[in-house]
Amino acid sequence: MIEDLPALVAAAVSAVATAATTDELRTLEQTHLGKEAAVLQARKQLGDLPKEDRKDAGRAINEAREQIEAAVEQRRTELASSERAAQFDSERLDLSEVVVGERPVGHRHIVTQAWEELEDVFIGMGFRVAEGPQVETDWHNFDALNIPPGHPARDGFDTIYVDHGESGSTLLRTHTSPVQIRTMLAQEPPIHVIAPGRVFRRDTADATHMPVFHQIEGLVIDRNISLADLAGTIEAFTTAYFGSGFSSRLRPNHFPFTEPSAEFDIQRPDGSWLELGGCGMVHPHVLRAGGVDPEEWSAFAFGFGIDRLALMKFGVDDLRELFTNDIRFLSQF
Ligand code: PHE
Repeated sequence: MIEDLPALVAAAVSAVATAATTDELRTLEQTHLGKEAAVLQARKQLGDLPKEDRKDAGRAINEAREQIEAAVEQRRTELASSERAAQFDSERLDLSEVVVGERPVGHRHIVTQAWEELEDVFIGMGFRVAEGPQVETDWHNFDALNIPPGHPARDGFDTIYVDHGESGSTLLRTHTSPVQIRTMLAQEPPIHVIAPGRVFRRDTADATHMPVFHQIEGLVIDRNISLADLAGTIEAFTTAYFGSGFSSRLRPNHFPFTEPSAEFDIQRPDGSWLELGGCGMVHPHVLRAGGVDPEEWSAFAFGFGIDRLALMKFGVDDLRELFTNDIRFLSQF
């Protein structure tokens, strides 16, 4: 039996090395190292040996056991890592998976499309995009734009006030014109900016009014800017955005922040007119509020709604449709 040990070890080691799973390995471990294992049974026979041989035989048995134990450990480590790898593989989530065939793809909202097209046209004309906050101070939205407290023009804006600071000091901007002031205060002239953005008025929603809508503001400050520059810019924008069959006109109007002021209309190829927005030469009070010297610089500004352009372009007849989030409506565009 002592002389059988090398063969026992060899058989055990090769069996262990081919164990395919940790369960199988556990069974083999029981067979080759458990109480009934031949290697351990050999121990019982030590007593039959001559005394002087027992020590060597005992050491041989221990070494045989250790060799088998080492083989089991090695195989256990191998199996554990390959089983973990297999588990990772089976539980892996492929987040980059591409669904082949029908695949729903979203698109930008039609107001966003109009907004971005307007930006593109104005950027092409040399304007840069400016921004301002939607929650605005009473000063930026009104006072600095030559609309002091008590001025009748304030009523026309149906302002939504925010409960913050002194009563009446904070509001949701009623137009994008406060961005004129913020831009003047932030940078030196010459200035050529547009400011698209969301604006708010206390209005009941109907086909042509929403309490939340979008405007785009334009501001040009330079030396010797005249009304002719304003009219030329509106005309250039009209053909660039709507097409060569369209033209524009200015009609006298009144805004506290421009002098003179005008309304501007677009003429469609069929001859009909579309009222688009307001414009004018920036009032000296407004330039001063923005820290710009009206003796040195002159300026024009314009502002108009974006939502109505989106409706027109896509043939939608009710502003409320823009907010319904009805996928059947939205997916048409
Ligand atoms: N802010 C004005 C409005 O909302 C539009 C406007 C902008 C008019 C700039 C003149 C100059 O009605």
